[in-house]
Amino acid sequence: MATKVQVKLGERAYSIAIGCALPSLVSVENAQGHRAMIVSDSTVDPLYGAACQNRLEARGVVCQRVIVPAGEATKSLQWVEFLYSKAAEAGLDRSSILVALGGGMVGDLVGFVAATYLRGIRFVQMPTTLLAMVDSSVGGKTGINLSQGKNLVGAFYQPMEVEADLDRLQTLPRREYVSGLAEIVKYGVIWDASLFHLLEKHADELLARDPVLLEKVVARCCEIKAEVVAIDEREIGPRAILNFGHTLGHALEKVDGYGQWLHGEAVAIGMCYAARLSVAVEGFAAEEADRIRNLLLKFGLPVGVSGDRRASWPLLRQAMGADKKTVRNRLRFVLAKKLGSVVIGCEPGDDKLEEIWNVCCQ
Ligand SMILES: NC(=O)c1ccc[n+]([C@@H]2O[C@H](COP(=O)([O-])OP(=O)(O)OC[C@H]3O[C@@H](n4cnc5c(N)ncnc54)[C@H](O)[C@@H]3O)[C@@H](O)[C@H]2O)c1
Repeated sequence: MATKVQVKLGERAYSIAIGCALPSLVSVENAQGHRAMIVSDSTVDPLYGAACQNRLEARGVVCQRVIVPAGEATKSLQWVEFLYSKAAEAGLDRSSILVALGGGMVGDLVGFVAATYLRGIRFVQMPTTLLAMVDSSVGGKTGINLSQGKNLVGAFYQPMEVEADLDRLQTLPRREYVSGLAEIVKYGVIWDASLFHLLEKHADELLARDPVLLEKVVARCCEIKAEVVAIDEREIGPRAILNFGHTLGHALEKVDGYGQWLHGEAVAIGMCYAARLSVAVEGFAAEEADRIRNLLLKFGLPVGVSGDRRASWPLLRQAMGADKKTVRNRLRFVLAKKLGSVVIGCEPGDDKLEEIWNVCCQ
């Protein structure tokens, strides 16, 4: 049995199914007799592509598969164009469906193609990484990278449904899996102290990919994201809480070169930084900041950098200032008040930002 989470967005509402060996696509009835194109990457397709295709065909969907290279470099205009051509060759029309079977890279890329091909066709997210299940497949942010930076072109475009089959996590490399755990910790910090407590209590089972626990935890994260997105679909205000730990995290990814850190690893360091800043300027309890650090450590995530990184502050400060979410180079942070509750738009002074960075360089 799957857990269902609803994303309440009026006519763009959809459901997320979370569970093991999910029986079928929730609304595939709407797809019967129509064409679908499953897009996956070169690692995921050999694992799950054929089974996914068989399942759709068994339900009367005319289906074909397209494979793109695994890796962030594929999230580019070149591969958008490739997929437009494949869609046109396959005769996809406005009733057709694109299926994104893969991690966040495939989800963002295929979502953007779905948003723009024929001015928008339906698409289904089938996330296969933990990060994609709890974060990127939900909420409608789609897009690609430019040589000037990540996610600079994109669209808000919601899927028709999300299918998170937890069985697919069993083949995910440990480092990728652990990286996804960072985003799960984030939900505990920004929204739900009892989720945080559950993670502390059951960290070992979660590391062992216990399916019962995973279903509960992934569903809770999707509920939180769904609730935040329903309040602020286009990130005009409160959705920014999802960026806790991301201001420094994105800067580390950029300065150190994409590929050096996995996204969740950089966010884990960014969360420790934000927690320390919160202690310094928002009255966040030091013991709670320690709990965040200890939980991330327990999962095997990085919580700081080596002492010789102090010198990289000017570059990091510059990268944070260039983030597309920055307003007139004034750095705004999401900071914690207490576990489960954060505030947006905090502007600690530059001296404080550097001082706390130095604390993170041990
Ligand atoms: N749209 C959003 O709201 C949002 C949010 C966060 C991140 N993102 C984006 O998500 C992307 C990162 O996503 P990701 O971490 O899932 O990375 P990814 O999609 O690159 O996947 C990571 C690696 O795992 C492999 N893989 C995927 N599923 C597998 C499985 N089940 N078994 C074995 N291998 C598997 C992939 O082939 C890839 O090599 C970035 O492009 C980031 O910008 C988007």
